[in-house]
Amino acid sequence: MNNVARKILWSLALVLGVVATSSHADAAQTAAEIAPTPQMGFNNWNSTHCRAEFDEAMIRGIADKFIELGLKDAGYTYVNIDDCWADWKRDANGNLKPNPARFPSGIKALADYIHAKGLKFGLYSSAGSWTCEPKKENHGFPGGLGHEKQDAALYAAWGVDYLKYDNCNNEKIDAKQRYGAMGEALRATGKPIFYSLCEWGENKAWLWASAPPVDGNSWRTTGDIEDTYASMLKLFKQNVVLDAYARPGHWNDPDMLEVGNGGMSDVEYRSHFSLWAIMAAPLLIGTDLRKVTPEALHILTNKEVIAVDQDALGVQGKRIRVRDGVHVIVKPLHDGSRAVVVFNEGRSAKEVKVAADELGLDKEKTYTVRDLWEHADAQGDGAIRVRLAPHASAMYRIRAL
Ligand code: GLA
Repeated sequence: MNNVARKILWSLALVLGVVATSSHADAAQTAAEIAPTPQMGFNNWNSTHCRAEFDEAMIRGIADKFIELGLKDAGYTYVNIDDCWADWKRDANGNLKPNPARFPSGIKALADYIHAKGLKFGLYSSAGSWTCEPKKENHGFPGGLGHEKQDAALYAAWGVDYLKYDNCNNEKIDAKQRYGAMGEALRATGKPIFYSLCEWGENKAWLWASAPPVDGNSWRTTGDIEDTYASMLKLFKQNVVLDAYARPGHWNDPDMLEVGNGGMSDVEYRSHFSLWAIMAAPLLIGTDLRKVTPEALHILTNKEVIAVDQDALGVQGKRIRVRDGVHVIVKPLHDGSRAVVVFNEGRSAKEVKVAADELGLDKEKTYTVRDLWEHADAQGDGAIRVRLAPHASAMYRIRAL
């Protein structure tokens, strides 16, 4: 090969290389890139439902609080709005429009406000003819069924980073088809929009929602949470057995947090948060952060507990024991350590022992057992001994020395 030919080949290779690199940069993000770890953020539903206090002033105020209260620093990213944001009818072009009393500045302006703070913005719709509220037949807010492409394009134009897609008024059309149509429409926008399915586990979404055409980033495994210990406990039990289905890009969702809403004790809220974290569940704050108590904020910003939820290995904790009302859940972490939650669901205090071999630890080794609520270390063979008050949990990170 002469020099000229060599130069031509080099130039060609360079051009091809540049084209390959830039087309890679433009390529749509994969599910694992959009949701490498479970989503963290806020959603207004658990605190406001459809009440009039849910409006743009509230949501801007929440975004402000993400910064002021250190929630952004703790990893909370998404500021999401739920049902009742939309107007009763689509506009003349068939586009969704916001309720003018609640969102007079429009959705794009709200998304811009949230983005300017380095946060992301999420919206809600339903894979049906109408959304879930109000519960009057044929009198709800318009849903996305049959409008998937048009709605997804509008979401992308508004700067929406996250879609929660509900299941009401679904005209009994196959769930995979309905959620698949929106999944494809979202990807066709070319924007990395987090896709959160909300079919309440009715069609066992964990069996099909991580595959195309849906390719969802999370799916609800349960009905709606209520701000009671009984509801939290029920959802935990439904979700904890589904650990095999969670992985980076695709997460089980036992519904949003109630921490701070007043219906549970601080001990119960601590269990709620610990259990959601060890299950690698979405951490979506459901309390009005403009009025949050110091106790609730203390729970929601425990960075050692959050690190367990957000661990890069992306494994949902596995329950290794449920006996006498005591649950033991173990979650392997990226650095070879493991997190453990010991939870006492019952009404009487319990002395709990978990031996080192039950935790799969090596007899020859010494371990540091770090209490993630007390922020204190102990050294030994890794075994756990703890007295748990009714409804209480303890949470540890166990690391070989
Ligand atoms: C359903 C969902 C809830 C909430 C409401 C809104 O019940 O499961 O999370 O979005 O609809 O109407």
